Amino acid sequence: MQYRDFGSIFFQDQEMLNCGKTWLSRALDMFRIAKLVLVSMLVVATTSGCVMSEEMKRIQKVEDEKARRKQQMSTNLSGEQIFVRTCATCHPGGAAGMGPSLDQLATHFPTDEKLISFLRQGVGAMPPQPKEVINDIEMGALVRYLRTLKVEPL
Ligand code: HEC
Repeated sequence: MQYRDFGSIFFQDQEMLNCGKTWLSRALDMFRIAKLVLVSMLVVATTSGCVMSEEMKRIQKVEDEKARRKQQMSTNLSGEQIFVRTCATCHPGGAAGMGPSLDQLATHFPTDEKLISFLRQGVGAMPPQPKEVINDIEMGALVRYLRTLKVEPL
């Protein structure tokens, strides 16, 4: 190898470089592929994560709307108002009408739980009162009102 022999130096260097390159470029290629795989995995992960959270947000929105509608549906009337609306036709003022007098209420239904489950179920000609008609808050108010009813004996 001579200094003046530019061509051979160049050639030799090039060859050495090429040799190094094949080894290095393989490593680099591997690295690039690995990087590509990692990046694409990351992209997939983040985009699907985004999609997931978007979906969750949508579900949450629907749930919120449902809850809002339910809230609007509930009238939260007082116990007396519910009694007049739903019960007084058959138990006017708690007295006997189409249904019996409610003066034995305390004896027949010693606990609120028993009274509530009776009212929810209904019996015979007396219609059941589901939660869509009388919600839990209203049922509580109705029961409190029923407990205060003083039925005048006829
Ligand atoms: C369509 C008429 C009707 C309506 C409306 C009605 N009831 Fe009655 N109720 C009856 C009849 C009939 C009975 C007797 C049922 C039986 O024993 O077969 C009864 C029984 C009862 C009893 C049991 C009384 C006892 O001492 O055994 C209670 C308490 C009662 N009703 C409360 C209510 C309340 C509170 C409402 C309103 C949420 C209501 N009822 C709405 C007809 C009605």
